[in-house]
Amino acid sequence: MPAIKSLPESFQWGYATASYQIEGSPDADGKGPSIWDTHTHKPNITIDGLTGDTATESYKLWREDIALLKSYGVTAHRFSLSWSRIIPEGSRHSRVNQAGIDYYRNYIQELLKNGIRPYVTLYHWDLPDALDKSYEGWLNKEEIVQDFVYYAETCFAAFGDLVRDWITLNEPWCVANLGYGTGVNAPGRSSDRKRCPTGDSKKEPWIVIHNQILAHAYAVEAYNKTFREAQGGQIGVSLDSFWFIPYDDEPENVAAAQRAMDFRLGLLADPIYKGAYPSSMKKILGDRLPDFTPEEVEVLRASSSDFFGLNTYTTMFVKDGGVSDVLGVVTNTFTGKDGGVIGRESHVGWMRDSFASLPTTLRLTAWTQRYQKPIFVTENGFPAKGENDKPFEEAIKDADRVAYFRGYVNAMLDASVEDGVDVRGYFAWTLLDNFEWADGYTTRFGCTYVDFKTQKRTPKDSAIFLNDVSFGLISLQAF
Ligand code: BGC
Repeated sequence: MPAIKSLPESFQWGYATASYQIEGSPDADGKGPSIWDTHTHKPNITIDGLTGDTATESYKLWREDIALLKSYGVTAHRFSLSWSRIIPEGSRHSRVNQAGIDYYRNYIQELLKNGIRPYVTLYHWDLPDALDKSYEGWLNKEEIVQDFVYYAETCFAAFGDLVRDWITLNEPWCVANLGYGTGVNAPGRSSDRKRCPTGDSKKEPWIVIHNQILAHAYAVEAYNKTFREAQGGQIGVSLDSFWFIPYDDEPENVAAAQRAMDFRLGLLADPIYKGAYPSSMKKILGDRLPDFTPEEVEVLRASSSDFFGLNTYTTMFVKDGGVSDVLGVVTNTFTGKDGGVIGRESHVGWMRDSFASLPTTLRLTAWTQRYQKPIFVTENGFPAKGENDKPFEEAIKDADRVAYFRGYVNAMLDASVEDGVDVRGYFAWTLLDNFEWADGYTTRFGCTYVDFKTQKRTPKDSAIFLNDVSFGLISLQAF
């Protein structure tokens, strides 16, 4: 019988969630509007025309959600704070809302009471709307970096006696490219004048990337200076990426796959962990990619994060050449040279279940070697095809999602045991079916089924599976 492989004893298992996707109650207890509140109230933004005004009502049902987490046997929970609940107008010159702080303190205390370790994301896309209105939010380096640092310091001071694990930003690539490139996400800027009244898709995403890197670095610097010693925590960032594999062995396609990784992941991870953009980017983008000043380079170098938060969903093939330079002038496809398509179809066009363990293992290994940091998988999940149209009894038997988790968790285990990759935690996306951004409620990523009419929560098979895995009740090699 093969030896049973296992993850380190201190390994953290949990779920990830995000404030706007679950909380609802957009103006409760003094909360100010976020760009998502504003964006979803414009016409034709979400597939079903719905907003996050209600979502899963978690602002009200939070005790029930924590009880659910407890019943799932998690050791940790990753969730995000809504900036505009804490500072309604967002800026360092404006008022802090004590009711917002009290709400999250109660939430964190309840997690701790239940033996669940809080992993707190400061920013998961819901920028205070006032910052967008007054100075164009992430486009304004001078203002946004200082305001983000002020907000981060407010949170370190308010919650740092209870919280050891901080994540500054969630998926800055998506913030930049979906918010300011395609304009599908808030604040909805792009060059496409049929859809968006303002924006410049060629320029703005790179400015927004740059300013988020700086906001992250200066927030880490503030943590190091004022809070680290007393609070003894750790701080990192959650970066998402596809894993790009060359379409074939042709040298230009091999180079294209590396370039796509540079543009998708390296553009954030290289400055954050190594202090500079990948050289392939400057070559293609020229002046559109801002430069770091010498002082900023110093701050980047001195504020390297403690861990690498990785949000990982899917894999694609890459060929050289293409019309857009967003990924470094490449073409990406799920169909390989032999006509075979990667993995199982999901409910959304941008991802498929590519659970063949090799890519994930390579990915984790390669990233550790490149960035030399412990890894937390801060998101990994699957929207089962057609789940929203299925009757409840069928939807909760989510075999495709179970298969997805089985493949990815197994690959993570291999990477940890066989390749010695330092993976320290895994957060499934996501606890509840919720408001899936521009998809509204039509795409379900949850391991818990939510009936959006009654807000009744019911565990799906995937929640039971992950519970058994984390308790070691299932040996993954059995599959
Ligand atoms: C985001 C989540 C989102 C999930 C599925 C990630 O990009 O962090 O907010 O719901 O992917 O699309």
